[in-house]
Amino acid sequence: MRASFKFISVLIVAIHGDPVSKTRTFPQDFLWGVGSSAYQIEGGWNADNKGESIWDRMVHTYPDKIVDQSNGDITSDSYHQWRRDVQMVKDLHVSTYRFSLSWTRIMPGGYMNHVSTAGIKYYSNLIDELLRYNITPMVTIYHWDLPQRLQELGGWTNPEIIPIFKDYARLVLEMFGDRVKTWTTLNEPWHVCEYGYGVDYMAPSYDFPGIPAYLCTHNMLKAHAEVVHMYREQFQKRQRGRMGITIDSSWMQPKDANSPEDREASERALQFYVGWFAHPIFSKEGNYPKVMIDRIRNLSREQGFGSRSRLPEFTEEEVRRIRGTADFFGLNSYTTYLVHPNDHNNSVNFRVPSFDHDMGVVQTRDPNWQGSGSTWLKVVPKGLYNLIRWIHREYDGPEIIITENGVSDRGGLEDYARVDYLNSYLSAVLDAIEDGVNVSGYIVWSLMDSFEWKAGFTEKFGLYHVDFNSPKRTRTPKISAKVYGHICKSNSIDWSYRPVLDEQQLVAMAQLPADDDSLAKASGAASTATIWSWSLVLLMVTLVGLNTWHC
Ligand code: NOJ
Repeated sequence: MRASFKFISVLIVAIHGDPVSKTRTFPQDFLWGVGSSAYQIEGGWNADNKGESIWDRMVHTYPDKIVDQSNGDITSDSYHQWRRDVQMVKDLHVSTYRFSLSWTRIMPGGYMNHVSTAGIKYYSNLIDELLRYNITPMVTIYHWDLPQRLQELGGWTNPEIIPIFKDYARLVLEMFGDRVKTWTTLNEPWHVCEYGYGVDYMAPSYDFPGIPAYLCTHNMLKAHAEVVHMYREQFQKRQRGRMGITIDSSWMQPKDANSPEDREASERALQFYVGWFAHPIFSKEGNYPKVMIDRIRNLSREQGFGSRSRLPEFTEEEVRRIRGTADFFGLNSYTTYLVHPNDHNNSVNFRVPSFDHDMGVVQTRDPNWQGSGSTWLKVVPKGLYNLIRWIHREYDGPEIIITENGVSDRGGLEDYARVDYLNSYLSAVLDAIEDGVNVSGYIVWSLMDSFEWKAGFTEKFGLYHVDFNSPKRTRTPKISAKVYGHICKSNSIDWSYRPVLDEQQLVAMAQLPADDDSLAKASGAASTATIWSWSLVLLMVTLVGLNTWHC
């Protein structure tokens, strides 16, 4: 028998290359989760008097800004399918479901003068259903869908937003705080400010480089701090929850590890991407990183802005008020860039002024890095290891929850590339934990395929496939859902666990529209499955052969 096992292993290795066979276990109380966001999954964009958000406005006015001219009007229809969503979360064996609240579903005009009972009821039902299955809701108060009315006042560039955001937060804490114990105020402020105001990318799509993004962050940080203070003073004692913020960054790898200039560029980029938000909250001294303050002040002066920097200044009182306002560090991270400094002639042609020009760092990729369904997302697990170690060092070991990590493809159920991504990124997280980094949880992006902002429905991040052609938006687990479920249940990574499609999935796949199938083929997933099926056949034949021989 031993001989036949050896033979089988040799056979598998011959077909697939050397499998990473190690099973690795996570700390016992490790938090496993899966995530989504309101605009991306809910649909029901104007159901029950929901108000208009900046995303509703942008996709309806400028459909061409979205790759496939799609929108989030219906998307995965979670406004109606939320019970099924909770079933899916439950089947993954995760302990936490991270989702966001749509401000305009709760307060259609953004202000507290008009509160929607239907909106409150929707989230209340969802929370109750999660709790019924012992799943902890982790709620993001703001995930990009600002009320359009507030945008007309300047959105996040107008300091008036601070008390209005606080009113909205107060209401949701009053309504849901008895049952929700984990909160984050804001999701990815870098994307909100630079991609929303600095360049023409995400709503509200200002395309006004070098000025409003800094005002936006200034107000977001103050709004965040006010909400955390309010929570601590008026709710936390009674409700016994925790509140943090989610910051996003890729790892910024020096292009040439031996070049001091590239190493400096890497450090500077991390300060501009992470430190812009994290330094005011998580560092001992507070305020923006010194390198940002100095560079933007000097460049502003050179550019003729006089003595007032384009980066606004905090008063000492404000610095104190913002410092320490997070119970944990939520981190979204997916990929890595290679970085080197911009030269003095700005040969890469960054706009002047702009965030990129202020940072003075050029970002490239290694052509050998494995790709995904998104051009920006290359698979570099070591990058996540480096990034969380950097955060650990920089901010004196805060508790880190990885609030988003995952990978896109172009469709299909046999998503072995996603399985490999999860296993390798989780190994990197575990390496960091073993080095002493305080990572307490990991949340996969995403529960299901959904509206991927500018990419519409062309890029899929889900563990569950959603059939966007069926009125019911039928959901089917992908291979990765099974693997992630196995990881959460066993609290460990097991590289040898590679299930094949079961009957339910095969039936579902047969019903998928042809274009989905071709997308799957284009992503290479189908061929992986074929290889594995052939391996199985080969194995069976071999086993039968060996048995016959023994007899
Ligand atoms: C970050 C965002 O929070 C989320 O909405 C988005 O879908 C993922 N990244 C993937 O791009």
